[in-house]
Parts: sequence; C-alpha cells; structure tokens
Amino acid sequence: MFSSIRWKFILVYFLLIFIAMVIVGVFIVGRLEDQQIKNVTNNMEQHIETIVESFSYIASDNWNEYREEIQENLNEWRLGSSETLYVIYNEEVPTIIASTSKQYNKLIGQNALSSKYLDSPLILKAFDGEKADSKLEEMNERVISKHLAYPVMSSVGKVKGILYMTSNLTDVYRTVNESKAILTNATILALSITVLLGFLIASSITVPIRDVTQKAEEMAMGDFDQFVDVKSNDEIGQLANMFNYLTLKLKNTIQDMDLERSKLDTIFNYMAEGVIAVDRDNRIIHANLIAMDILGLSQSNIVENSIFDFKKMNMLEIDYDKVDELEGDEIVGINSEIYKIKHAPFKNEEGNIGGLIMVFQDITHEHRLDNMRKEFVANVSHELKTPITTIKSYTETLMESEIDVDTSHRFLNVIDSECDRMARLVRDLLQLSNLDYEKTNWNKAEVSLTDILEDVILKLDLAFKEKKQRVTLNIEEDLPKVFSDKDGIERVILNILSNAIKYTQEYGEIHVEGFISDKNIVLKIRDNGFGISEEDQERIFERFYRVEKGRSRELGGTGLGLSIAKEIIEAHKGSLSLKSKLGEGTEVSIELPYIEV
Ligand SMILES: Nc1ncnc2c1ncn2[C@@H]1O[C@H](COP(=O)(O)OP(=O)(O)OP(=O)(O)O)[C@@H](O)[C@H]1O
Ligand SMILES: [Mg+2]
Repeated sequence: MFSSIRWKFILVYFLLIFIAMVIVGVFIVGRLEDQQIKNVTNNMEQHIETIVESFSYIASDNWNEYREEIQENLNEWRLGSSETLYVIYNEEVPTIIASTSKQYNKLIGQNALSSKYLDSPLILKAFDGEKADSKLEEMNERVISKHLAYPVMSSVGKVKGILYMTSNLTDVYRTVNESKAILTNATILALSITVLLGFLIASSITVPIRDVTQKAEEMAMGDFDQFVDVKSNDEIGQLANMFNYLTLKLKNTIQDMDLERSKLDTIFNYMAEGVIAVDRDNRIIHANLIAMDILGLSQSNIVENSIFDFKKMNMLEIDYDKVDELEGDEIVGINSEIYKIKHAPFKNEEGNIGGLIMVFQDITHEHRLDNMRKEFVANVSHELKTPITTIKSYTETLMESEIDVDTSHRFLNVIDSECDRMARLVRDLLQLSNLDYEKTNWNKAEVSLTDILEDVILKLDLAFKEKKQRVTLNIEEDLPKVFSDKDGIERVILNILSNAIKYTQEYGEIHVEGFISDKNIVLKIRDNGFGISEEDQERIFERFYRVEKGRSRELGGTGLGLSIAKEIIEAHKGSLSLKSKLGEGTEVSIELPYIEV
C-alpha cells in the first residue's frame, strides 16, 4: 500500500513541509530568544548606568561609609520586579554592602564571592575592570537569570566596587515557549492540511492512472472494449486520450488480423491443394484437410507433431544445408494418384529457416490426359503408317515389274481397300474432332428407333449370314419416336451391332431388345461372344482402345467406333453403357429420351 505513488507523494510532501517548518521554527525561536536576552542585558546596563549617574554616594570613593545611604537610595529606586541589584565594595574581600533583594538584611556584609546568588568569576572579572555578563541557572533549576557585573572606577582610576545586577529570565523564556507552542501548532496544522491536500492531489493523479492500469489489465486478458474517461487536458488527460487511441488502433488492428487469419484459414482449409508445414526435424506443424486426406493423417498426428516420413511419400529427403534445393517441385505417386509437390522454406521468429511448406497438387487427371494424348498421337501415326506401307509396297511392285492383269487387279484392290481404310480413319477422326468442338451439324428430326434398327439389320444381313449368327428381336410395339439425327443414331447402332457380329464366334446368338423405361427408350444389344474383361471395360470408350489389338485390326476395327457412339448418344442427351463378362458375352445399352405426345 505504501509503495503506491499516492503514499509516496504524501510522504514527500509531508517531509518537505515538516523540514521547512522545523528549520523556520528553530531559526525564529533562536533569534527571538537571543533578541529577548539582548534586550534584557541592555536594560540592565541602562539601569546600572542610570544608577551610577544618579546616585551621589556611588560617586564617592569610600562606599563603606555610605552603606546605609546607598541602601536607602536603592530601596527608593524602583527596579523591575525581576531585577535585583547588589552593590559590592572591594575591601579586603569583595563584600555586599547594599542590595534590592528582599533578604538584603542577611546578605549585607557577606563575602560576595561566596554568595550563592552571585557568579564569582563575573565578580573577579569586573574587579579587573571589565564589564561582564553571564547566564546562570539558579539553585532552583527552573529559574534562569541574567547576571551583569559592572565595575565602578574610583577617582584614581581603580575599581572601587561593582554594581551587580541579576534579572530573572522567566518572562523571556515564557515568551519563547509560547512562540514554540504557536509554531508547533502551526506546523501540526500545516502538516494536516498538507496530508489532506497531498491526498487529494495524489488522488487526482493516481485515480486516472489506476483506471488506465486496470483497463490495460483487462485488455491484456483479451477484452479490447476498454475506454477511459478523459476528465482533464493535462498530462494525465493526454495519457488517457492516448490510451483510448491505442485501444481503438489495437482493436482495429486485431480485428483486421483476425479477418486476415480467418480468410487465410478458409483458403488454407478449402483450397484444392493439400498444404502441409513441417519443421526442421520433419515434425508436422500444420496440415489442411486435403493434405491430411492425401497423406492419411489424423488430427492427432498434427496435435502430437508426428514425424513426416519423406521416404514413405516417395520423396527425396530434404537437406536444410543445401539452401538452393529447399525451393522446388517433385512429382510423386501416392496411392495411385499423381501429385506435383511444390516446396519452399519458411522463416522462424529469429529469421532462420524454420522448416518447409509443401503444396500437394493433384495432377492425376492432367497426367492421364497427357498420356492419352501421347497414346492418341502414337495410335493415329500407327494406324496411318500400316496402310501407307502396304500401299507403298504394292505400288512399287506394280511400277517395277511386269505383272499380269489379274495380279495387278488384285494389287489395285488391296490398294483401294487400304485407301478406304485410311479414308474411314480420317473420317472417324474428323467426326470425333467435330464432336469435341461441338461443330457437328445435327439434322434432328422425329425418327423411329425401330425403323433405324430394322434398316441396320437389313444392311448387316450378309454379315450375319457369313458368320451363321442368329439375330432375335424383341421390340415393344408402338415405341414412341425420338428427336434425333437419323444418320448419327444409325452409325451408333451399326457400330454396336457390327461389334456384336465381329466379336462373336460363328453360330453365335445376337439378341436385340427395345422397351420404354422411365422417360427413355432403351435398346439392348446382347451377344454371347468373347466378352470383355472388367479391366478392359473401364477403358473401352477410350479412343483407339481395343481389347485384342491383333484380332480387332484383322477385323478392320480402329477402336474409334464406341467412343464416337458414346459422344453421339451423349450429344442427344442419352446414355451409352456396356456390361460384359469375359467368355460369356456382352450387352450394350442405348438410352434415349423419347418425344412425349
Ligand atoms: N460386343 C463385343 N464383344 C466383345 N468385344 C467387343 C464388343 N464390342 C466391342 N468390343 C471390343 O471393344 C473394342 C472397341 O470397339 P470399337 O467399336 O470402339 O472399335 P472396333 O470395333 O475395334 O473398331 P471400329 O468400330 O472403329 O471399326 C473392340 O476392338 C473390341 O475389342
Ligand atoms: Mg466397332
């Protein structure tokens, strides 16, 4: 409590006034005492001098003769009540010959040097011709008197006697003591006022300071809604003003920071990439949900700062001494997905490298597309190269040697069919490209799927017969029409049915079903042919994908049929799907929305 500014202030104020009052008091009282005593001494001297001048007997040299007259004179002389005069004549010994004392009867004739009322050194000094005074405490210790010995000279210039006067200083000391009391009271009063004023002044300073301190404490606990009342325009008021300004600034800054952090948190947690931060000991500090998912981490791994295993992630171990290598990227495969990992170091509070931040970007799709693109280019080149090689060798033979008409006719047929093959391939690729860029001009009209199906079966009749396959139809009667491009749909059905013929052994069975389901017409083309393994089924709609490349090529296939079919059906807001079992057969379903009447 006493360490507070308020008490220090009061104490300093108190001591200041106390010391000032004591110094002033001692000085004043000392001066007063000295002045009073000096006055008394002067009075005594004046009295004595008046007596010496006015008493005729004192002028005579032999005082002894006029003892009684001198005593009478003294009796008549009106001295102050506090003063007593002794007339000492120097005979063989200094002897009191007259006195104003009440007990003068007893005193007269006494040896002055042995009188208890007189100061003998003073007497001796006076007999040496010196005027001497002293302050003496009498037997009764409380009485202090002033003594003055005044030598009186004879006509021959010798000390004939002494007028010795004592003056009681009780009055003087009473006055001094009264002054002391007044000063003491004044000091006490001044100190009381000082304490009170000090308290008030100190309070006016400390109360706002305490208010600011208290509010600052609450701010430290996180409550920034603090406001100090500004009651004055002095330094304290300015402090309060600054405090309020600081609070406002701090509050705004913290709000801004919170906002930024929340934005960053949201970005961090919901960004498409996984982000993870590890320290120099490879301990995980942060990871967003995506990163946790990719790396199979749980919340506890992050809370416990588990070790990030670079080796397990197929990543190179980071060497923090090789600063140049800390920033970079790496492509790794994690659980059948491909990730591009970009990493860069971050700094800690001391400005040193604190660890590494890694961003996991899922590039599986791009990777796959890239592979497909490469495969596509390779496939196109390959598909074109084969017929070109064939054509080239046949034309060379035709040009170089003399060949009979039959053989040359056969050769020209081969060249023609290879040209057809190339033309078909180019046409298919062109159609796919048009489908990709949605450039195909669909000639949409109300068409009957049953009619198209029957047309296609008619076209393929020869093929069925060649392979001695049996086709059965089970089409619901009066199927509603669809709003489609006739040629497009015909292409789809033709491809699917010719696939069924191509990839089904002789004497195989092909069954076509047509019915309404929901708001769609469903066409199912089922065969009991070679079937497709599950692994191949996943990629069957990819361009150039063929199950058994050799056999498919022999049969004239390029592997574009199903992908074109799928694109066409989807462009008609329908769907194409395939179910198959290796060695058992395949079922392809076409679903197309029909026109509601
Ligand atoms: N019904 C089926 N039974 C067994 N395999 C099939 C069947 N239909 C398609 N396939 C397999 O799917 C592959 C892709 O068929 P797709 O129709 O796309 O190409 P293609 O028939 O080889 O050539 P294209 O149709 O361009 O002449 C075929 O090569 C074949 O291996
Ligand atoms: Mg085909």
